[in-house]
Parts: sequence; structure tokens; C-alpha cells
Amino acid sequence: MNPASPLPAQRFLTGITTSGTPHLGNYVGSIRPSVAASKGVGAESFYFLADYHALIKCDEPERIQRSTLEIAASWLAAGLDPERVTFYRQSDIPEIPELTWLLTCVTGKGMLNRAHAYKASVDKNEAAGNDPDSDVTAGLFMYPVLMGADILMFKAHKVPVGRDQIQHIEMARDMAQRFNHLYGEHLVLPEALIEESVATLPGLDGRKMSKSYDNTIPLFSSREQLKKLIAGIVTDSRAPGEAKEVEGSALFQIYQAFASEAETAAMRQAYADGIGWGDAKTRLFERIDQDIAPMREQYHALINDPAKIEAILLAGADKARRLATPLMRELRQAVGLRKLAAPAAPAGKQKAAKTSLASFKQYREADGQFYFKLLGSDGRLLLQSQGFAVPKEAALAIASLQQQGAAALKALEGKLQPVEGIGPGDIADALQQLLDASAGA
Ligand code: TRP
Repeated sequence: MNPASPLPAQRFLTGITTSGTPHLGNYVGSIRPSVAASKGVGAESFYFLADYHALIKCDEPERIQRSTLEIAASWLAAGLDPERVTFYRQSDIPEIPELTWLLTCVTGKGMLNRAHAYKASVDKNEAAGNDPDSDVTAGLFMYPVLMGADILMFKAHKVPVGRDQIQHIEMARDMAQRFNHLYGEHLVLPEALIEESVATLPGLDGRKMSKSYDNTIPLFSSREQLKKLIAGIVTDSRAPGEAKEVEGSALFQIYQAFASEAETAAMRQAYADGIGWGDAKTRLFERIDQDIAPMREQYHALINDPAKIEAILLAGADKARRLATPLMRELRQAVGLRKLAAPAAPAGKQKAAKTSLASFKQYREADGQFYFKLLGSDGRLLLQSQGFAVPKEAALAIASLQQQGAAALKALEGKLQPVEGIGPGDIADALQQLLDASAGA
């Protein structure tokens, strides 16, 4: 997007750390409301797999990879439409670690000292009589800055998160404010969005469903597994025929998270009428399975086709980088990481210089294929590609032209259409001009 074009009314962005297998709590608390929100009009949604964040707490490569696959498949199976939203993997966006560094340089160390997750580790060490930073990585310490870069990179307005993340959003605001104060209005100040109506789901033992309590029900267990796990939900010892309390009943709360109001009322009545726990569990199982079964098939089809998920994520990264790349260029310029050949100039003049360069445009046609073209500084069409099946191919072709100039043309023979009235010299000149410009960048 052109940085001067207006932002959409509301941009939502949220990340999912790729260190576990999605469970019913994730579905009810995050996946289901996010997918529903992404279908609304007037919202632009960004959902991403926070795999750089996962490295902070997980040093098992296979687990990171597996979790990335499972989470991506879960969101897609739950109905996320990657054409409507921007769905990508954090580590496919090199601009994010780049922005992390710029933000690191405007973030007070004292603020990071106060981050809950870091402080909790320090407190634990101190309580145990250890060195305060024992076993604390700089990654954990820097967690909020990486998260700030995730959010600020895409100028998100609203960040739907759990309560435990509010402090991180406030820190991201702080970083944006400080950056803007020093370098001009480049970043949008984000706000946390806490969905009051979204329930936190209790787990098998009645405590909040969480991987760290080992009390979860995986979202895509088989029917048999699901049944077995539900049978293990804690209940009290009241016999069939005795009235049951809905208050404090994990089983009831889980049921409520899936059921309609009428169904919930009927279950409440059944409790009062003394439904046996075995029957209540069967009802819960059938109700959950009714929602999950259609997605389950989709999920397994996706899990068994990782190449398809990979392609979806790469297309998402492409879409995301169309925003990240120009913003990063703008921010580098703002902080003084500039071409030496173009000395500091008033803002107006820089803009003029920028628009007088040739540029690549990447786009998708109605035939579903991905194309690019090269426009001259005067807007003339210089190069026109043929269609590519996946955006990544178009992006690679552009990258080769950007990096090698006219030397890359030979390898792209057959992938380019001739443009009437344009000679090889015109193309070579424009590519050389781009090379010169980026050599100074
Ligand atoms: N820290 C978030 C969590 O643990 C995950 C996350 C990473 C995130 N980057 C983000 C959430 C950016 C929202 C926005 O839940």
C-alpha cells in the first residue's frame, strides 16, 4: 500500500504462539471469535503464527514445526478465509525482526524490567535464592519488543488478546509514542481488545483449560478420544436423581460455551431434575462433536497436505509484506539509515525523489494467477509478466530483477510478455536506476 493512502476504518491483528496443540479453550477463546470477526464488514484482519515468539519458550524444533502446522490447519478448518484476511507466519516477514531493532532502541530497559513474564521469572529466582536472572534468556526479556514490532508493523488499531497480554499492548503503544515523538508520525498507537463475552473455558480438573495445567481437551481429538476425555471431567459425587449445581460445574460451563441459550436452559433444567453425570457427559460430548465433526474432516485433510498450508502461508506473507516493506523503507529513512548519495533533504523533496523511480507492481487477475509489471518513473508500462500459479514465484522473479537488474532477464525468458513500443534499452535503464537506488539504501 502506498503510505499516503488512507487506512481502513479498523484493523485487527493478533498472533498465536506456535508451541502447542490447539485445544477447546483456544477454540472458544480465540479461534471461533476471531474467525467470526473476520467475516464482519469494515474490518481488516491480520492473524499470524508467532513462531519467533515460540522460540522463547520452546527449544524443540520438531514441536515448533508441528505446532505451526496444527495451528494453521485448525484456523483454516475453523473457517478462516485466507482470501479475506491476511494470514501469515511471523518468520516469513524479515521486516519484523528489523523493526524489532528500531523499537529496541527507543524502549526503556526499565519498562521491560517491569514486564509480567520477565518479572515472574525474576521473582521466582529470588524466592529460591538464585541469581535473579538465572535461566532467563534475553529473548524472554525482549518478548514485548518483538510483540510491539508485530503490531506496529501493520498499523493495527485493535489487538484482540487475553487479559494477560494487556500490558504488552500498552508497551507497544509506548514504543509507538516514543518513536513518533523522536522521528515523526509514522506508527499507529494500538489498543487491546478484550472480549468480555468470551468465556475462559475450564479444563478437565475445573481450573482454566491450559497446557501448563495439563488439563486440556485437544480441539481435534477423534470422536473416541473426545468421548474419553469428557468422561474424565471432574464432577461431584451426587448420584443420579439428586439435583445438581450448575454453579462451579466445569461440565456445565463447557456445555454453555457450545450451546445455544435454549440448549443451555434445558441443561440447567436437567441439572435441577437430577440428570446423572454419565448422561450429562454424553450430552456434552454430542453437543461439542456436532460443532467439531465437520471441521475435523477438513483439519485432517489439511494436516495431510502440508504443502497446501505452506502455499497459503507464503501467499499471506506476500500480502503482509506489501505493507511491511514500504513501511520499513519509510522508517529506515526516518531514523537516518539512508542512502549516502541523497543527502538529508526536506521531506517534500524526498518524496519527489521517491516517486521518480521505476516501480514493480504485483497483483492478481480474475484468472486467479499472479502477475507483476514494471512501471517506469513516468508511469509507462515497461515489463509485463505472464501469470504465475503462486505469488511466491512472481515475488521471486521481481526479486531477481531487483537484485541483478537486466542480467536477470534472460532467466525469465518465457515468463515475460513483450510490451509494444518498449525496447530492451528502456527496461535495462529502469532496472539499473532501481539497482543504483537500492545500492545506496
Ligand atoms: N504474546 C501473545 C500470546 O502469548 C502472542 C502474540 C505474539 C501476539 N505477538 C502478538 C498477540 C501480537 C497479539 C499481537 O498470546
